[in-house]
Amino acid sequence: MPLIAASVICADFSRLGEEVERLEQVWVDWLHFDVMDSHFVPPLTFGPLVLQAVRERCGLTFNAHLMVSRPETLISDFAEAGADGLIVHQEAVADPAALLEQIRAAGCRAGLAYNPSTPLSDLPHWMDHLDMLLLMSVTPGWSGQKFMPEVVDKVRDAHRLLQEAGSSAPIIVDGGLNGETTPLVTAAGATVAVSGSYLFEHPNGLEGALVELRR
Ligand code: DX5
Ligand code: ZN
Repeated sequence: MPLIAASVICADFSRLGEEVERLEQVWVDWLHFDVMDSHFVPPLTFGPLVLQAVRERCGLTFNAHLMVSRPETLISDFAEAGADGLIVHQEAVADPAALLEQIRAAGCRAGLAYNPSTPLSDLPHWMDHLDMLLLMSVTPGWSGQKFMPEVVDKVRDAHRLLQEAGSSAPIIVDGGLNGETTPLVTAAGATVAVSGSYLFEHPNGLEGALVELRR
């Protein structure tokens, strides 16, 4: 059964405090904050102040998924805002090892994300430095896209590479997950499913979506 990370960009922003309380009440496992800078990806979402504003309202693990071009400039701000984990993109940084260690030094779990089109060929270099691995299963930037089935093989490859390295870092899959696609990635070795539109738009509410996602 995967852990479920709720993608906060699909929540009602006009009452975000109540939304994060509601997510904790229905036993979501983690919260996932999609930070976009209008440069690494076209949309612009929010920064550390928003995460900090709801930190007091919810005891769940907060991970910030930084879809930004210069993540190194934001690490201390998100750590001080109360993030438990920070996930940066392989495509955005020259030296992932140094950045992952910067995240750890700031007191957060360090995550590395790969876009669907980015191969995992350099992943073995970063194994000692990462606490989480995120594999995108849609083009980063927008919720509500269709799951890319070719990512299933990539999850399997990542699982093997982590095992070979003796790493227990969770594999998080992000994008297009629902009751049908989540079992495909968990069977391949994913342990955390990020869910946005499916979770928030399910006809049976958050609880109904969680039952399907955890099946
Ligand atoms: C996409 C984001 C995802 C997305 C998930 O750039 O990283 O977290 O919001 O939303 P769904 O589940 O709708 O694909
Ligand atoms: Zn995300």
